[in-house]
Amino acid sequence: MASILQKLITPLFSGPPEPPRNKVTVVGVGQVGMACAVSILLRELVDELALVDVMEDKLKGEMMDLQHGSLFLKTPKIVADKDYSVTANSRIVVVTAGVRQQEGESRLNLVQRNVNIFKHIVPQIVRYSPDCIIIVVSNPVDVLTYVTWKLSGLPKHRVIGSGTNLDSARFRFLMADKLGIHASSFNGWILGEHGDTSVPVWSGTNVAGVNLQTLNPDIGTDCDDENWKETHKMVVDSAYEVIKLKGYTNWAIGLSVADLTESLIRNMNRIHPVSTMVQGMYGISDQVYLSLPCVLNSRGVSSVVNMTLTDDEVAQLQASANTLWDIQKDLQDI
Ligand SMILES: NC(=O)c1ccc[n+]([C@@H]2O[C@H](COP(=O)([O-])OP(=O)(O)OC[C@H]3O[C@@H](n4cnc5c(N)ncnc54)[C@H](O)[C@@H]3O)[C@@H](O)[C@H]2O)c1
Repeated sequence: MASILQKLITPLFSGPPEPPRNKVTVVGVGQVGMACAVSILLRELVDELALVDVMEDKLKGEMMDLQHGSLFLKTPKIVADKDYSVTANSRIVVVTAGVRQQEGESRLNLVQRNVNIFKHIVPQIVRYSPDCIIIVVSNPVDVLTYVTWKLSGLPKHRVIGSGTNLDSARFRFLMADKLGIHASSFNGWILGEHGDTSVPVWSGTNVAGVNLQTLNPDIGTDCDDENWKETHKMVVDSAYEVIKLKGYTNWAIGLSVADLTESLIRNMNRIHPVSTMVQGMYGISDQVYLSLPCVLNSRGVSSVVNMTLTDDEVAQLQASANTLWDIQKDLQDI
């Protein structure tokens, strides 16, 4: 006797299912990975989401929990496995796996522990999605983006670090809040290293095209009576503060990664401060990844905007590059 399925559905053709067109994989289903996954799902960007982790029960639980929300989502397929074959044909792979900062621990302290994890992860990603773009989120993000580039063999424009996209978002929120406007209406960029040596480009801060440095030539300097420099210090300290308060940061980074994903998937040519290979730019001679304003489209980082920086800002970028290279040159087996 025919089953309900056979009675209900008349197939018009048979054959293998269509491969996904806009598949994103998130590696690491911890606090950051799941915030990225949910943010990407809610932006309705993908037709398939794959999750990978080494903790099998947690991975299956997260997958099931998301699948149970399918009624409210526009992503018809959500899959998960510790085997990377589940990631096949991804357009974008977001890597959030690894150990995170402990209270008071610097991002750079994490480095060799996370490099060892990446030696396992990155070759598997490339094996199953040789044409993908990788967004690295795990910290220290600039070093791990370099490590991913080396381990993957991918062209540099297809390996991106989330970089100072989050720092810039924090900066724009804090500055806008002081001015009583929305974060999107305050224009300002934090470049360089994600974290302690990030570089605020005070010379480019503006609201509706009005350059703040023309209103206060001392903005961002020690001579500034209004002490705007404090806002950048708050950006640097904010991750430590949130970690102290709730144990980790996740929502803002998740939202910011979904924003990057949108520019890549929708081929938007939007400009974001993300970590890219900067050798040859601003007098930097080593192979380091640092954040500069990058044009993102479906091919990855299509170009970098040559921002007009002051001598001091260039010197700060170069100092970040030296700090990172000092760490990278001692990394084992990459
Ligand atoms: N770039 C940024 O702006 C930014 C912001 C916040 C956090 N982070 C970083 O993101 C990373 C993740 O943070 P979190 O809070 O989600 O940590 P978490 O401990 O909650 O999650 C990490 C996950 O990685 C998984 N994992 C470990 N080894 C793995 C492997 N070999 N393969 C697959 N998965 C593996 C763990 O099982 C865990 O589920 C950290 O490095 C953290 O510092 C970056």
